[in-house]
Amino acid sequence: MNQRSTKEIYYADYLQLERLLSAQTPESRRHGREAHDEMLFIITHQAYEIWFKQILHELESVLGAFAVTPLDEHSMGVIVARLERVIAIQKVLNQQIDVLETITPLDFLDFRDYLIPASGFQSVQFREIELRLGLGVHVPQPVTGRLRSEDVAYLREIASEPSLFEQVDAWLARMPFLKFEGYDFWESYRQAVMAMLAKDRRSIETNPLFSDAERSAQLAELENTRRKFDYLLDPAGFERLKAQGMFHLCQTSVLSALFIQLYRDEPILHLPFRLLSHLMDIDEQFTTWRSRHALMAQRMLGSKIGTGGSSGHEYLQETVDKKRIFKDLFNLSTFLIPRSSLPALPKRLKQSLDFHFTGERCS
Ligand code: HEM
Repeated sequence: MNQRSTKEIYYADYLQLERLLSAQTPESRRHGREAHDEMLFIITHQAYEIWFKQILHELESVLGAFAVTPLDEHSMGVIVARLERVIAIQKVLNQQIDVLETITPLDFLDFRDYLIPASGFQSVQFREIELRLGLGVHVPQPVTGRLRSEDVAYLREIASEPSLFEQVDAWLARMPFLKFEGYDFWESYRQAVMAMLAKDRRSIETNPLFSDAERSAQLAELENTRRKFDYLLDPAGFERLKAQGMFHLCQTSVLSALFIQLYRDEPILHLPFRLLSHLMDIDEQFTTWRSRHALMAQRMLGSKIGTGGSSGHEYLQETVDKKRIFKDLFNLSTFLIPRSSLPALPKRLKQSLDFHFTGERCS
């Protein structure tokens, strides 16, 4: 009989509960004025860090699957399932704020000063999640002096590795949907867009409810939209959209993502569509957390500075929109057109859509 199977596993040993449950030491106790609520504060943070570990575990496997080029078709289902798990965990993380908010601002003050200068600022796992997702691509991530030198070195190493954002960019850029045996999909799309905009123009021009000023404003807005469509399809124009911060992905990737969104009913595009939706969910859950955390900090601290020395709520509120990672995919909705206006795909193109995404990487 196998030697290992004879050893009985004991619940507490397997989970190392002795270590885990002896790792909560309130600072207020050390100072001889134990604050009841500090235990909840510690346990909530620890629960966050444990979930961060699981998120990183999932992200690392997703990044590993993307690192194989061309992407193994079989891994797509696993990637999508792992990202779904990340989203489910993020929902739990957002709910945990409810538990934390049972600490009242006055009770928080019983132990807050003992924590200085420690802060969530110094959560290395949180920074790693940001970097793994691709935040460094959008906002240069200063690895701050508030971290220990070994943590700074570790995060620099993570920052030098390809992030999920970059891998998705490369994967989208390799998709073969842009031109197909003489059929230029994007030319058909351009014509469909122009027809749609012309219809919109007619309805603005003939709408009796608009005053002259309103009509001019609507027409100017329509012209603005038309210009954006032009920019999207033109390499030089696209650089303008990038300069405006609308996109960080390369043009071929944006067009592939748009194609997936538009034709997501094609069976072969179901998984890519779910993948893109999950990236938006991850971004949305993260943004929700940042926003709720900023509000919670304001509720606890008002306009006091944070224990880590930032301006507190003001700093956190700024990060809510600044630290979006997959906002490109949200901005893409600008370019969706109704199903009824979509160009029908030639039969051979429909048949040949496949997961063999090979070809050029984006520059
Ligand atoms: C009473 C509860 C909390 C308050 C009042 C609070 C307050 C703050 C403040 C003011 C900051 C800005 C940095 C600073 O100056 O310290 C911050 C940053 C941060 N906190 Fe919290 N926090 C709380 C709970 C948590 C929890 C439970 C977590 C989970 C790990 C967390 C994670 C973070 C992270 C990751 C940052 C850095 C955010 C960034 O730079 O984008 N915080 N917190």
